[in-house]
Amino acid sequence: MRLYDIISKKRDKKELSKEEIEFFIEKYTNGEIPDYQASALLMAIYLNGFTTEETANLTMAMVNSGDVVDLSMIDGVKLDKHSTGGVGDKTSLILVPMVAAAGGKVAKLSGRGLGHTGGTLDKLESIPGFNISVKEDKFKDMVENAGLVIAGQTQNLVPADKKIYALRDVTATVDSIPLIAASIMSKKIASGADAIVLDVKYGEGAFMKTAKDAEKLATAMVNIGKSVGRNTSAAITLNGEPLGYAIGNALEIKEVIEILKGEGPDDLRELCLQLGAQMLMLGNIETDVEKGRAKLEGILKDGSALAKLRQLVVLQDGDPSVIDNSELFEIAPLTHKVKATKEGYVYELNAESVGVSSLLTGAGRHTKDDELDYGAGIILEKKIGDYVKVGDVLATLYSSDEDKFEKAEEELQSAYAIKAEKPEKASIIHKII
Ligand code: URA
Repeated sequence: MRLYDIISKKRDKKELSKEEIEFFIEKYTNGEIPDYQASALLMAIYLNGFTTEETANLTMAMVNSGDVVDLSMIDGVKLDKHSTGGVGDKTSLILVPMVAAAGGKVAKLSGRGLGHTGGTLDKLESIPGFNISVKEDKFKDMVENAGLVIAGQTQNLVPADKKIYALRDVTATVDSIPLIAASIMSKKIASGADAIVLDVKYGEGAFMKTAKDAEKLATAMVNIGKSVGRNTSAAITLNGEPLGYAIGNALEIKEVIEILKGEGPDDLRELCLQLGAQMLMLGNIETDVEKGRAKLEGILKDGSALAKLRQLVVLQDGDPSVIDNSELFEIAPLTHKVKATKEGYVYELNAESVGVSSLLTGAGRHTKDDELDYGAGIILEKKIGDYVKVGDVLATLYSSDEDKFEKAEEELQSAYAIKAEKPEKASIIHKII
């Protein structure tokens, strides 16, 4: 088999066989195919697309390029969830304990933040002592006996994706639906998931700009799941403004604790209840969304979801006293209020600019090696639909470095569009498929 022939076949809009896709993934991962040929094939896929079968074959070839977590010895459906990324998106930290408290088994491998989006691992590491490196035996033991674990990905999980993603990034082939779908689903399947709930975001700052494109991506991923025997459902959700009011690491964990106590912001709770109900259905714990929601609402009220988070923290070597009393979190000592310079309704609140502003306070990374200020970030005071007068506080910035406030404020001011006209508040969940 020659890659030349595979490239010309896809260039001519023909369907690739399983063997041809496996050949490409295996040989490219082990360095036998040069980047220029792989780039040509990726561009041909970008331009001419992939069928559902080709996309499923690509996904499984990528899964098999490295380590695969085997959780088959554990009874029950092992659940996972994935969000295509959003600012202030702390849903994993709410869903994992909530679903585990309802009887689900959730095994979650997460990543770090880079650029304007935060990462679940960074947020967890703002809990003193929390350890994201969990050895395989302990990982399995936690899923089996506690129903939850959140750990960092091993180096060798889907190595094909690491190489291909780096190449796509420099060859203008990132935003191809089959390539994104295979990239995401391969990592979920290699992490040991039997069933996956996806939160596919659209809007400013999201990969997919429109609900229609997000639905196409979601459908591609649900189809991969169906083809390879992993029950998958997806919520198409608006990434209009940040979720909740807190952006940062420790600040977001404090908001997670509020939700797990049955308090906290409505937008965040609603999204978690919807995604959580889907997870309970895929996990065969509930038979319909309404029953799932009711169960989860009960779990938030009776404290068992918060107790699950506490158990996760203890099992992963963290200090549970910050969960018992979130005032003990070390929040950055300096604050700076960002005030409205115009009267009217908050008409838009650009999530990407809020994310960049949070990064500028020290809560995020410009490059992979930057150190984080775990207590830095933003508490929003005003969101879309709120009326403000000149001088009203729009948000409070937190940082350990006074010099960071000027640029962070400038960026945050640019995130707010204030107009005389009242905006229509769009619902976050567009569709579930
Ligand atoms: N996220 C991924 O993991 N892969 C993509 O290709 C795009 C977003």
